[in-house]
Amino acid sequence: MATDRKPEFFKGAQLNVGIIGCGYVGLPLALRFAEAGHRVTGFDSDPEKVAKLNAGKTYIEHIPQTKIQQFVHSRHFSATTDFSRLKGMDAILICVPTPLDERREPDLSYVEATVRSIQPHLQKGQLVVLESTTYPGTTEELVLPILEKSGMRCPIAKGPEAEKLPVDFFLAFSPEREDPGNKQFGLAQIPKVVGGINPASGQAAQALYSQVVARVVPVSTARAAEMAKLLENIFRCVNIALVNELKLLSLRMGIDIWEVIDAAATKPFGFMPFYPGPGLGGHCIPVDPYYLSWKAREYDFSTRFIELAGEVNTAMPYHVVDAIAAALNQREKSLKGAKVLLLGMAYKKDVDDLRESPTLKIMQLLHERGAKLDYNDPYFPKLHKMRHYDYSHMKSVALDPKTIASYDCVVIATDHSSYDYAAIVDAAKLVVDTRNATRRLVRHREKIALC
Ligand SMILES: NC(=O)c1ccc[n+]([C@@H]2O[C@H](COP(=O)([O-])OP(=O)(O)OC[C@H]3O[C@@H](n4cnc5c(N)ncnc54)[C@H](O)[C@@H]3O)[C@@H](O)[C@H]2O)c1
Repeated sequence: MATDRKPEFFKGAQLNVGIIGCGYVGLPLALRFAEAGHRVTGFDSDPEKVAKLNAGKTYIEHIPQTKIQQFVHSRHFSATTDFSRLKGMDAILICVPTPLDERREPDLSYVEATVRSIQPHLQKGQLVVLESTTYPGTTEELVLPILEKSGMRCPIAKGPEAEKLPVDFFLAFSPEREDPGNKQFGLAQIPKVVGGINPASGQAAQALYSQVVARVVPVSTARAAEMAKLLENIFRCVNIALVNELKLLSLRMGIDIWEVIDAAATKPFGFMPFYPGPGLGGHCIPVDPYYLSWKAREYDFSTRFIELAGEVNTAMPYHVVDAIAAALNQREKSLKGAKVLLLGMAYKKDVDDLRESPTLKIMQLLHERGAKLDYNDPYFPKLHKMRHYDYSHMKSVALDPKTIASYDCVVIATDHSSYDYAAIVDAAKLVVDTRNATRRLVRHREKIALC
């Protein structure tokens, strides 16, 4: 017997919502559902995170502790490692990582492990939504077959004739568009794209999310929703590569690319500004496009824009290191043996996220060329071991004038708002600015090399 639960059920109050993966995406989502009055359980495989959350503590800089405390106290939010509690959930939202493996191919092991842990507890009428960014087809080809091992069915179907199709459970994809640290657009203001495995699943997910976001954008299939997220991120990746390439040309031609971008951005239609930098960072833009290139191979299709953008963006940290060497050379100093201070480890300003940060690569390249390195980042008093890098011996140095003056070169890798750029340039012997953070400074421009 199919479930007699209708999609409209998910418009109801005080639903039990389970969020699997309480990271940058899952935690804000959990708090938003709690804020809307639902009973939210955060499931995470990391017992330390679970303990912190239940104690009302945050581990993500921009997520306030008071908010977690408020919902823990009001019993709208709790966290657990016990997946048997999934049984009691009305909706289960999956927000686990989707990185690349060593061969830069999709690593869906977290998604797969999560779905395998849902399957024994899956109940009739439950709604499961995958939120992790992935290639088109993942929900249908990976998630659905595992869940259907329960013996319950959620047939793949679309169109009006499939509207009344009976289902045992609901399954959909809805990509996360969270931009950590963005003060203008929070989760509630960002429209949410939703695509179901069948119409009932799409409608169920639409009903659920309409309670927590201002606008839900339904698409006809889960595949379309998966592709929409990749289009957004590939659009960014390709445009950043374009502007990075034009920056290199502009530098050679003696043109200020930032001035050019500002001028072009005054066009009221048909142009959107993107800014050059030391390379791509974060969990999404350097990673997600390769999910599509990988899938495209199955269709004998080569995604040339993605490959080209990857090539240009990957070369940027190498360019930064060459620019540092050239700036030192101008001052009759070699990079080998030079004392270099890197400012900003995070992949973008004002976040405590190191993932894929180009500063990590720049450090590796500088180290290989014999520079003596230190760093400062207010968000990282010390560094931890990562998949590709181990700088766990390094601690953030103080940023006082005497310390700054002791380096041959200070590199602005990430332009955190808290830095006093005028004071940094005043104190430094030489500044290499990869973000144009010093653009408004007038004094000591001779010390600044843009790159
Ligand atoms: N961070 C972003 O800005 C952002 C934005 C949009 C989309 N996304 C996508 O959202 C997804 C999640 O990213 P994130 O940044 O939140 O990752 P994250 O690493 O911050 O969080 C993932 C959480 O999942 C937990 N986890 C891992 N495996 C698990 C398992 N088997 N069971 C339960 N918990 C498990 C981890 O302990 C961690 O707390 C990814 O697909 C990412 O591409 C991220």
